[in-house]
Amino acid sequence: MPFLLAVSASHGQSGGDVNQRVESLLARMTLEEKIGQMSQSTSMNTPLSDAIRAEIRAGRWGSFLNAGSPGDRAEAQRIALHESRLGIPLLFGRDVIHGYHTVFPIPLGQASSWDPELVEQAARTAAAEASREGIRWVFTPMMDIARDPRWGRIAESLGEDPYLASKLAVAMVAGFQGKSLGDPASVAACAKHYAGYGAAEAGRDYNSTWIPEILLRSVYLKPFHAAADSGVATFMTAFNALNGVPSTGNRFLLHDILRDEWKYDGMVVSDYNAVLELIKHGFAANEADAARKAVNAGVDMEMVSTTFFDHLKELVASGQVDQRQIDDAVRRILRLKFRLGLFDREPPAPAAAEPTPQSLALAERVAAESAVLLKNRNHTLPLSGNAGSVAVIGPLADSAVDQMGTWNTDGRARDVRTPLAALRESLGAGRVHYAAGLKDSRDLSHDGFAAAVDAARRSDAALLFLGEEETLSGEARSRAFLDLPGAQNALADAVKSAGKPLIVVIMAGRPLTFHEVAGKADAVLWAWHNGSMGGPAIAKLLFGENVPSGKLPVTFPRTVGQVPIYYAHLSTGRPASESELGIPMGNPEKPTGYTSKYIDVDFTPEYPFGFGLSYTDFQYGNLSLSAPVMRAGGTIVVSADVANRGTREAREVVQFYIQDETASVCQPVRELKGFQAVVLKPGETRRVSFHLGSADLAFYNSRMELVTEPGKFHVWIAPDSTRGVEAEFELR
Ligand code: BGC
Repeated sequence: MPFLLAVSASHGQSGGDVNQRVESLLARMTLEEKIGQMSQSTSMNTPLSDAIRAEIRAGRWGSFLNAGSPGDRAEAQRIALHESRLGIPLLFGRDVIHGYHTVFPIPLGQASSWDPELVEQAARTAAAEASREGIRWVFTPMMDIARDPRWGRIAESLGEDPYLASKLAVAMVAGFQGKSLGDPASVAACAKHYAGYGAAEAGRDYNSTWIPEILLRSVYLKPFHAAADSGVATFMTAFNALNGVPSTGNRFLLHDILRDEWKYDGMVVSDYNAVLELIKHGFAANEADAARKAVNAGVDMEMVSTTFFDHLKELVASGQVDQRQIDDAVRRILRLKFRLGLFDREPPAPAAAEPTPQSLALAERVAAESAVLLKNRNHTLPLSGNAGSVAVIGPLADSAVDQMGTWNTDGRARDVRTPLAALRESLGAGRVHYAAGLKDSRDLSHDGFAAAVDAARRSDAALLFLGEEETLSGEARSRAFLDLPGAQNALADAVKSAGKPLIVVIMAGRPLTFHEVAGKADAVLWAWHNGSMGGPAIAKLLFGENVPSGKLPVTFPRTVGQVPIYYAHLSTGRPASESELGIPMGNPEKPTGYTSKYIDVDFTPEYPFGFGLSYTDFQYGNLSLSAPVMRAGGTIVVSADVANRGTREAREVVQFYIQDETASVCQPVRELKGFQAVVLKPGETRRVSFHLGSADLAFYNSRMELVTEPGKFHVWIAPDSTRGVEAEFELR
């Protein structure tokens, strides 16, 4: 009898109830059925084939990814619940990375908001849309720390900093999973890619990562640990080998740390084909060996490749895989399905989720908070709404698909409002002179330049929308050059020659190097690939209806040769100093000094972590400590005044950094330990306080123990990672 009917009277979802139901089901399953649950397939196409129907009936698959239409999913679920022997429901997973039909800015853009509450709301909205169409598992958030913009997947990351990424990852998980996974509008989230994937050598996707355990624990694992503690339902392995051992067969990661240390009891899925790829890595001799190594390391479900289904039975028979290992994996899978309520509900009738006015308003708000003002010479921005006309130029001004960014799987161009459309609407078509100049970001032809220059000449200001196409960003989109591609630099030169105020808006999936364009521009607004409502968000920022408040979640290099460059680096014995700045870019100077720097570019980045301007002027002052000394186990409060000395009400993300000045293991020159957003009226001053406990000062020592050591600590309350008001205290 299908399990649905047998249990449908019971709605209790306490851990105990779920565990009982799991055990009673597990006891009735054959080994094949168990292995079926451990298998996830992409092979469900539209319409459902007879072959796939038969496989679902036979319990061949536990889960499908990125598969079918909403109607197919409902029908497949009906077959699983009512026509398979045990009535075990399917779990439909999907890459709902930054929105579903309503597309939010790419995750790195969302991270620029430094607004966990907003990011949570975006995830909640995506969960509601996706779940309506039968998806109850999303492969999000990606929390790989990313310090290399050559890596295309930096777009999906939450930036370079473990503290910021942890806060945002936890917020996203809360949004996706809601108060209860059993809520039909909740979806299981997935902490990926565990672990170290963002540190691929030279930014080449899928490549090896070499991360000493101390760095792994201090930086790369932190968001995963936070997500596990916050109850993220699933983890995904990474493609890369970490210190020579592929993550997908890495028992140290998947068992020793995840299960033993963190006590994580959720489910682990491999990445796409990653079990099979253990062979290409040179880690497994053949498919059976790959299945054995993955399961024994701690993978519960295999994505796409079928080594589990093809080999686990014989591996159990020969004793190479313990039956208990299989049972534990299946327990975790079934537990998730029960917690999602999949056993207790008929699949909802297939319904199409459409963006709503509310979801689009939220998308606009996220896009607005994601934008970072990088330059604003002589208050060029905001433009006055009464100012005559503007030229709208550039390959990103009206490209709906590019604006959505990487992983726009369910985004639809028809729902996107581009900057051109928004500006035409708000100013009136007669005040907007549009000339793309280039067909796309890689276009090398100058054929469109004359029309672009003409548009600029006829206007009071030139708005130049540059950047990257979405297809240059994301998975397998590593770049060795970080410049604006195509003839975009030349287009900027041409438009500059028109002699009008030049406002550059850059829409991209990664930090780019655009030193010369920034030099020519009067203002630069960094907008990222900012989703369905990016256009209106940008238009309102340019015309001052909103004030930019985004801050960079990742350091922008001056040139690719500086990469990796990040704020929380260690000092050296020979640090470079401010007096060594001003080196012209590109041509080596006559070398001087013996400090840690370059001879052909400044050692500092183009824009530091945490940086972002406003239309108003925030001043920081009067830092105070509640005590000059902190005792072990104690706390101190660090406070400072933040004053709005400008003329606009605006939001400021106030950042809190520390430095452990001397320790048995050298500590970063600064580390983010807190942030708070304040909204201040012109003339208003707010005292902002951060509580610091001695546990916040802990670091991993050489024996991998989390310790605090007495000594002096520096603190900053700051507008970014390079400035701020500061003081010192002592831990005794
Ligand atoms: C990516 C994952 C993604 C999976 C499923 C893989 O190529 O690395 O992040 O979730 O595909 O589409």
